Amino acid sequence: MRKDGTRFWANVVITAIHDERGVLLGFAKVTRDMTSRKRLEELERSHLASVQIGQARESEQKRIARELHDDLGQQITALKMSVALREVELVQQVPQVYREQLTSSAELGEQIDAMAVSLRRIASDLRPPLLDDLGLEAALELMAEGFEHRYGVLARCLAGGEALCLSDLASISLYRVAQEALTNVARHAQANEVTISLSRDELYCYLRIQDDGVGFELAGTRRPESFGLVGMNERIQQLGGTLSVESSPGTGVTVAAKLPLSGITITA
Ligand SMILES: Nc1ncnc2c1ncn2[C@@H]1O[C@H](COP(=O)(O)OP(=O)(O)OP(=O)(O)O)[C@@H](O)[C@H]1O
Ligand SMILES: [Mg+2]
Repeated sequence: MRKDGTRFWANVVITAIHDERGVLLGFAKVTRDMTSRKRLEELERSHLASVQIGQARESEQKRIARELHDDLGQQITALKMSVALREVELVQQVPQVYREQLTSSAELGEQIDAMAVSLRRIASDLRPPLLDDLGLEAALELMAEGFEHRYGVLARCLAGGEALCLSDLASISLYRVAQEALTNVARHAQANEVTISLSRDELYCYLRIQDDGVGFELAGTRRPESFGLVGMNERIQQLGGTLSVESSPGTGVTVAAKLPLSGITITA
């Protein structure tokens, strides 16, 4: 306990002091304040917990995506086939005059197709399938293509080079950062061009998303309902990396993530 009555964690070493004849003279006591060490440990624990929560969330999303695809997806396909078979039966059994009054099964088929498209979109938002099959590089290239197609903003992806072999959490995190950065470009930038680049050196892996749009004032106050940049930052920090955002009005925005390769790569 401190003099003012507050309590703190301490490491105390008490040593008996003897004279040459072995007679006890007294005790020496060294008390070391462990508060900052304890706090560091707590921080490390909460960091670990948030990494674990991130991992749990991603693996749960992966599971839901798989269920949607394998279970509901198969059922939709089966439904589509049943409807087609039913149509063949109807054509044979129902007299021509009544046929047109039945809801056209072609229409039903179209609705089912639309359901399948939504399902695929939801599943791939939860867990981009390409990421598992072809890796981050290919997934980013496809993301750029899709972006260009959807928003008419020229999108380049420089992600060639040797494969990075990133851990599941690292690749999904970088994927989500790129996804959010591109969403921001579409929503805020009025850009003509955006470049995604993924590269590495001996120690780090780098992801950059750079646009040539209107930019924004970094020092401006954050709207409380804006989570994009905060979320990106958290994802990257969880992996021991850093995220920087550079911009000023008129100069476009560059979002750059730098991750230490140790701990995020899987060794084959
Ligand atoms: N590429 C960009 N070009 C111009 N302004 C941007 C860009 N990216 C972000 N901004 C500015 O930074 C703000 C914060 O971005 P952030 O992604 O955190 O929030 P948001 O996009 O507004 O909302 P959300 O939480 O849905 O992502 C944006 O509102 C926008 O003003
Ligand atoms: Mg955003």
